[in-house]
Amino acid sequence: MSTTAPDRQQENPLAEGLALRRTPDPCALVIFGASGDLTHKKLMPALYALAVRRLLPPRFAIVGVARTGGDDGSFREDMANAVKQHARDPFRQDVWDELAAQLHYLATDFADSSGEDKLHGLLGELDEKEELGGKRVFYLAVPPPAFPTIVEALGKRRDERGWTRLVVEKPFGHDLASAKELTATLLEYFKEEEIFRIDHYLGKETVQNMLALRFANGIFEPIWNRQFVDHVQITVAESIGIEARAGYYEQAGAIRDIFQNHLLQLLALTAMEPPIDFTSASVHNEKVKVLRALHTPAPRSVVRGQYGRGFIEGEEVVAYREEAGVAAESMTETFVAAKLYVDNWRWADTPFYVRMGKRLARHETTIAIQFKEAPHPPFEESAAEGVRPNVLVVHVQPDEGVSLAIGAKVPGQGMTIRTVHMDFLYGGTFRTGMPEAYERLILDTMLGDSTLFTRADEVEEQWLLVDSIVAAWQRDKPSFPNYPSGTWGPPSAEELLHRDGRAWRRP
Ligand code: BG6
Repeated sequence: MSTTAPDRQQENPLAEGLALRRTPDPCALVIFGASGDLTHKKLMPALYALAVRRLLPPRFAIVGVARTGGDDGSFREDMANAVKQHARDPFRQDVWDELAAQLHYLATDFADSSGEDKLHGLLGELDEKEELGGKRVFYLAVPPPAFPTIVEALGKRRDERGWTRLVVEKPFGHDLASAKELTATLLEYFKEEEIFRIDHYLGKETVQNMLALRFANGIFEPIWNRQFVDHVQITVAESIGIEARAGYYEQAGAIRDIFQNHLLQLLALTAMEPPIDFTSASVHNEKVKVLRALHTPAPRSVVRGQYGRGFIEGEEVVAYREEAGVAAESMTETFVAAKLYVDNWRWADTPFYVRMGKRLARHETTIAIQFKEAPHPPFEESAAEGVRPNVLVVHVQPDEGVSLAIGAKVPGQGMTIRTVHMDFLYGGTFRTGMPEAYERLILDTMLGDSTLFTRADEVEEQWLLVDSIVAAWQRDKPSFPNYPSGTWGPPSAEELLHRDGRAWRRP
């Protein structure tokens, strides 16, 4: 039975605007990896945006933990620069001063128990001074090898007075076996409902809008199935290269970096059944059913690529193998395209074509629902040439919005048909800047709402599929590089659709 009890509604991040939400309880947020890129580029700017909007708890402390030496003063200065450089809001000294007073720094590598003791001591002091009641969010923005030591140290010294939440950044494991192992380690000390596995795509407004679009509108759901949908295309295209992340990317490749998490989550949200409510469990249950229904694609239905030299916005860029830290003969893929099937009643025989890659022609993430052709266009042949099947495109980024392609009559004599677009653009409609994904996600961890995070069983299903694809890759070696930077990937990605009489959408 569905429920509209007020407390349920409060937990629901999708039912109400950010401005109307609860303010989190007073708490401490401990960021492990405070000197890293994520903290500078995403976490601190997001905390600043929350401070600007007065969405942080009334009593609050942020503790940055890293191996690099430093103190509160140097940390505050470093973070002020990060905010000036990366925040979406202009820098306001009054907001910053208030937030900076809540920032603390602890230099330790957790290699021995002295690190643990120091953190424990500092949190105890902050608890007392700010009356935080032992409520803590621990954010693991560190490389996975560091997880077990930190998790064990935190788990052994839990403060049972308040609540504890553990936020785990990706990558969550390297394959199914390591992901299971990691889950087992976490579960030794934390309960599943205390673990928040980040997939930052779920924090994006437009990704959540997929749920609003599907389930707040009566007109889409009846046609959201194999009877009316010809196929679905999901594109996660980036024009950037691997930046300074060769060490990580050489191990991950596009399949682990984007396909295993962001891409499969976008697919799950597109294909899932309507949940009975928007509680965390209901949404996760529906998503995991889709992930389970995905069957392993045949090897010829998966294409990999690696970028060579080329041009991005007129600038010449180097090949992947020439990037600093990448092996000269590297076989790591920077592009993947695949044809996937969701084996259930709603989607049987409906292909989901997905592609993702670095150094592609344009930065764009879209989900395109391509509907079947009108059964019988009653027009003359010349007019009918302009009739195209309807496409509903969710523009996740940039140019956030939704667009529906429809056939329309060109004004004038006779009947000539052309495709036109009905567009909804976030910027124009809501006239407000788009919140960054991390703003929503950090707030949700403090509120204890895990709807927009991934549950252990989802992550495992995602790895199961990736492991089977990667296993098939061991058998042959494509010749890399196979696409120039600034293009849409290797020719075999085009062929994947041409074989089926279809083509990738061109933006
Ligand atoms: C990260 C990947 O998870 O997502 C990066 O590790 C990628 O390689 C990034 O660039 C893309 O995120 P966004 O929000 O810029 O689309």
